[in-house]
Amino acid sequence: MSLNNIAILGAGTMGHGIGQIFAQHGLAVTVYDPHPAALQAASEKVLRNLRLLQENQGGEAVNPGLTVSNLMFTSDLSAAITGADLVIEAVPENLTIKWSLYSQIAPMLKPTAIVTSNTSTFALETLAFEQPFADRFLITHFFNPAPLIPLVEIVQLDITIPGIAGQLIELLRACGKVPVLLKKDIAGFIANRLQAAVMREACYLLESGIAEAAQIDTAMKEGPGLRWAIGGPFEIADYGGLDVWEKVTGHLFPQLGASQEAPELIREKVAKGELGVKTGAGFYTYGNPAQQERQSGERDRKLLGLLQVKAGNNKA
Ligand SMILES: NC(=O)c1ccc[n+]([C@@H]2O[C@H](COP(=O)([O-])OP(=O)(O)OC[C@H]3O[C@@H](n4cnc5c(N)ncnc54)[C@H](O)[C@@H]3O)[C@@H](O)[C@H]2O)c1
Repeated sequence: MSLNNIAILGAGTMGHGIGQIFAQHGLAVTVYDPHPAALQAASEKVLRNLRLLQENQGGEAVNPGLTVSNLMFTSDLSAAITGADLVIEAVPENLTIKWSLYSQIAPMLKPTAIVTSNTSTFALETLAFEQPFADRFLITHFFNPAPLIPLVEIVQLDITIPGIAGQLIELLRACGKVPVLLKKDIAGFIANRLQAAVMREACYLLESGIAEAAQIDTAMKEGPGLRWAIGGPFEIADYGGLDVWEKVTGHLFPQLGASQEAPELIREKVAKGELGVKTGAGFYTYGNPAQQERQSGERDRKLLGLLQVKAGNNKA
């Protein structure tokens, strides 16, 4: 079965970008959100993303008209689900919200429809618990900004109908993505577990007064971050020498932060409503919405530059 009609549930940070990817590649996409303001913001963000891609990659590579004509935004859930071959859930990371939405969509799904979640942290077993479509339910974990970051982690269960993961992998590859299928279901998958380990140590260093946030960010961007764009932890360990890494891990593991809860610094900021770029302040300040938009655009331009270098098509 081809996956031609795609429904995205949730038009936020992730949903609009995931919808854009498939629409850019000629598939019919319906983005659902119960909040009309979120739909409006999503369609504006897609236009901005497309303008940026056009500036960067030229008119031939990106066809904004085609993308927009493939995208529909709706606050009618059944209009989004009916006829969808693939439903991708990208609603807030809250089990009650996700489960409630699954029970709403279950009776509306085509019998062959595949459902996936873009969850960042939940194990698939938890999300799929007692869902009537559990054998057609997988995780497709995209990264922010979804239209630019190639990685999509895929998780399936022992009960998943054979062939579905392969179908998703084929679709994602056709849309320019790099899917990685995990061998087992685990909360946080691969990349978020790696990121969380780094974040735990970054917050430990900040909370212990070892360095300021800006120094920690610089150390990452000008050091390991550069290598990580071209080599994973095991490739880097092989280059450095496993005898060295035996010492690094043996000496440092007992001295690393080992907190079992969200860092206090982050909890304090969230309690004050300082959520990062989307509220104008987090570890840094981002000014008014126009300045925030400019900064996000700048981040995306840098990412596009890096992707071009990685692809080897940058003459510089
Ligand atoms: N933000 C990231 O960097 C990121 C990266 C990867 C994965 N994720 C995961 O993707 C999912 C979505 O995250 P996000 O950052 O886009 O969240 P978000 O808060 O930006 O967007 C969520 C959207 O869902 C809508 N929504 C709320 N209830 C809904 C419902 N019942 N049905 C449909 N829509 C509903 C909201 O109106 C909002 O527009 C989460 O599971 C998150 O963990 C986020």
